[in-house]
Amino acid sequence: MEYLSVMFAALPASLAYGLNFVHPLLMWVVLGLALYAMVLGIKAKKTRTADAEERKQLIKGQFAKRHFLFGSIVLAVMVLGSVSGMAVTYANNGKLFVGPHLLVGLGMTSLIAIAAALSPLMQAGNLIARKVHVGLNMTLISLFLWQAVSGMQIVNKILTTP
Ligand code: HEM
Ligand code: HEM
Repeated sequence: MEYLSVMFAALPASLAYGLNFVHPLLMWVVLGLALYAMVLGIKAKKTRTADAEERKQLIKGQFAKRHFLFGSIVLAVMVLGSVSGMAVTYANNGKLFVGPHLLVGLGMTSLIAIAAALSPLMQAGNLIARKVHVGLNMTLISLFLWQAVSGMQIVNKILTTP
């Protein structure tokens, strides 16, 4: 850990401060992408459970494929965003704040990783894997809304602390 603090200490203060705003902006984009992925997932389920006639129409939307793509993007950026949020916090404070935003953030990152790991089972048609996937990710979306509020409180603190 020693070399890490030396490395961060070498960062110009203004750069370290400016980096504070990359994570919040990025995470608002991820929230939008996650909501879009959710809509695609719901449409994928609609396609899977529709009757033959309706299915013919819905299948053109390629919702399952697009959901998998957008889900994967959300997974990748959430992992990077979470880790970089911790890095920037450490660079500016020389420590992490073991508070709700950190713990819920790590929890969310774990949830989406586990949900994504169910993909091969879901693609093999496992219904339990699908239910667990949806349960984990709906919890994720709820936590995300809360995380946005606690995140903006941190932004506010950074802006108002001299
Ligand atoms: C719109 C939503 C969000 C906002 C506005 C926000 C804002 C912030 C801010 C301002 C910080 C302080 C460090 C920095 O400035 O880079 C931070 C830290 C952090 N954020 Fe977020 N965040 C959001 C969403 C998320 C999400 C979705 C995750 C994870 C899934 C996450 C994980 C973290 C973690 C792990 C830290 C380090 C906290 C610490 O060590 O004290 N954030 N966030
Ligand atoms: C953003 C959060 C996410 C939400 C809200 C969500 C939601 C859903 C929903 C509602 C379904 C339909 C289940 C059914 O057919 O009964 C589904 C299916 C699926 N999801 Fe997600 N998901 C999310 C993220 C992800 C991620 C990160 C991945 C993988 C990287 C992923 C991969 C899949 C796959 C492979 C299926 C099965 C599609 C098929 O029928 O072939 N999802 N998801």
